[in-house]
Amino acid sequence: MKRVFGLYMLVLAVLMMHVLGCRGVSVKGEDGHYLWLYPQHAVPVKILCSGQTAILSIAKQELLQNWRGKENATVELLVGSDKLIKGDGYKFTATGIQANTEAGILYGVYELLRRQQTNQPIQNEICNPSYEIRILNHWDNPDGSIERGYAGHSIFWRKEQDSMDVTSEDSIRWKEYARANASVGINGTVLNNVNASPKILSRPYLDRVKAIADVLRPYGIKTFLSVKFSSPSMLGGLKTSDPLNPEVIQWWKEKVKEIYSIIPDFGGFLVKANSEGQPGPQDFGRTHADGANMLADALKPFGGIVMWRAFVYSSEDKDRARQAYAEFMPLDGQFRDNVIIQVKNGPIDFQPREPFSPLFGAMKKTSVMPELQITQEYLGHSVQLVFLAAMWEELLKSDTYQEGAGSTVAHCTDGSIFPQKYSAIAGVANIGLDANWCGHQFAQANWYAFGRLAWNNQLTSEKIADEWLRLTFSASVDSLKPEYRNNWQEHFLLPVKNMMLKSREAAVDYMMPLGLHHIFAANHHYGPGPWEAPKGVRPDWTPVYYHKADTFGVGFDRTRTGSNAVSQYHEPLASLFNNQATCPEIYLLWFHHVSWTYRMNSGRSLWDELCLHYDTGLKQVRDFQKTWDEVQPYVDEQRFLEVQSKLREQYHDAQIWKDACILYFQQFSRLPIPPDVEQPVNKLEELMKIKRNMTYHN
Ligand code: GCU
Repeated sequence: MKRVFGLYMLVLAVLMMHVLGCRGVSVKGEDGHYLWLYPQHAVPVKILCSGQTAILSIAKQELLQNWRGKENATVELLVGSDKLIKGDGYKFTATGIQANTEAGILYGVYELLRRQQTNQPIQNEICNPSYEIRILNHWDNPDGSIERGYAGHSIFWRKEQDSMDVTSEDSIRWKEYARANASVGINGTVLNNVNASPKILSRPYLDRVKAIADVLRPYGIKTFLSVKFSSPSMLGGLKTSDPLNPEVIQWWKEKVKEIYSIIPDFGGFLVKANSEGQPGPQDFGRTHADGANMLADALKPFGGIVMWRAFVYSSEDKDRARQAYAEFMPLDGQFRDNVIIQVKNGPIDFQPREPFSPLFGAMKKTSVMPELQITQEYLGHSVQLVFLAAMWEELLKSDTYQEGAGSTVAHCTDGSIFPQKYSAIAGVANIGLDANWCGHQFAQANWYAFGRLAWNNQLTSEKIADEWLRLTFSASVDSLKPEYRNNWQEHFLLPVKNMMLKSREAAVDYMMPLGLHHIFAANHHYGPGPWEAPKGVRPDWTPVYYHKADTFGVGFDRTRTGSNAVSQYHEPLASLFNNQATCPEIYLLWFHHVSWTYRMNSGRSLWDELCLHYDTGLKQVRDFQKTWDEVQPYVDEQRFLEVQSKLREQYHDAQIWKDACILYFQQFSRLPIPPDVEQPVNKLEELMKIKRNMTYHN
């Protein structure tokens, strides 16, 4: 038996050698679990640091385990006080790293190691964070499911959890999660869905929150919870949850006190109120300010904050894109200073492309924070390779003209234009129990990019992609055969980076170019559904409401003579957007209802241009497939095959998008598909049928 086994192993080894011999890479299959923190071949380093705290111990350990600088160099870690260092920022000095906080030292260590691994210079300089609070929002439910999650179940909550026991697997995962976040500067996390269950505030759940907080704390991460506004009645048994009712006020005060007695450094609450069926202060005739302030008052004595979401609907205004601004602007100046209004990047809902929300650069007396969506609800779930940093860079660099030119969204939210008590940025997480954390190897890049931009909102997506690729795939470089190692940059890094940087525009092109938005099939938000107009559903939940296609043209008229959403922007933007001739074409159908025969900048008709965009998007995915096939020798087998198969699926689904949209809109334009565009390969009737089954990604 033993000999048979030995023989079997020998054959297997020979086979493996044969397989690996055909490739440049000879590392074993890799599931992506290491993220961008691949174990390093470290060399010895001496560390001078007097502190012994948990954070500093981690900082020291990271240096010892990953140092790739000069052998036996001495690095000093100094917690001091330097006025030029802000918050958890740090300074590289001639002797090491200096910071005003211990977390600052940890971030400095991660940056130092990152620069070593990516061959970037380390010189005397100060690195301050753009935002004070850099926070993930998990849309995780207490039963372990994740709303809009595409990477398995929650890492925090479990369905079959009768007891709240913390297993060793739980602790290991939470620690790995904390380390990954700290390595990119993320310092806060909301552990549960904004569509919150009241039971999250019950004692068994709070005990589990404590267990999680204890693991995250040494990595500088604060824990927050989403709360349901009606918790006083649903959990506390009160007759009302009216924010001005004394018993309700008292209930929240006691609840907050209880939380802080369990988790003394608890961060605060995130609230979705009066939105998509969630309860809120308006149910009692009160305003968002009344609701937010009541919670803020309860949290204030403990240093907690309220992140109050501006993702609301209003029946007063017929244009969904205007509603958040319409509700919140009149309340500017009425919020307590520990309230931050959390605003989605665009006025509607995380679409592949939206102009920035006009609330950025509007409220001057209130802290406002951007909310980005890392999980790819509207950008291909964990099937499609879409690098979102390009989208976020576009947002952060958008000029609001609040205080004249240069008032970018980045500067309107990071406190550099007008003082905010708190500056913060949130990202809806794409993390689950999947071995590779995010469902798609390249979706990890979006988690990474969020952290990096939250730390430095001036970074380019090019730089972030470069860093991430070097960190995530360079471990395989060490094991490459020399002939491959020498041209890794040219043959792997550059083409793959290029693919990442083009991927978001490609997705816009094959899904909804030229300002089209929200033409997804209902619920799953994966495939196309421009034809959907179900009866009994609110109009602004149907694609036909958004594209308004007719025989004249297509697009939503938000001009001064239309819904007048343009007027929510400062000049010169309002006039620029208002005029069809000056409106940037990427937003054309967002702001205008445009004739099919309208001449675009290219000289083509709108119809021809639309067809061309769909076609270009699809062809780009074909190019991505070719790019990836060509880098096979540089990638370990497991990640290569996984990405290859997902790209195949992406191509298939992009073809569905293109065919569905061109054929559907053609019913209105009644114009031929231009000859330089590949003809659809599917039939509209067939596509309209299959979309109903496309719930498998959710
Ligand atoms: C989107 C998403 C919902 C989510 C909501 C929100 O509408 O589809 O699942 O709850 O955004 O941000 O609150």
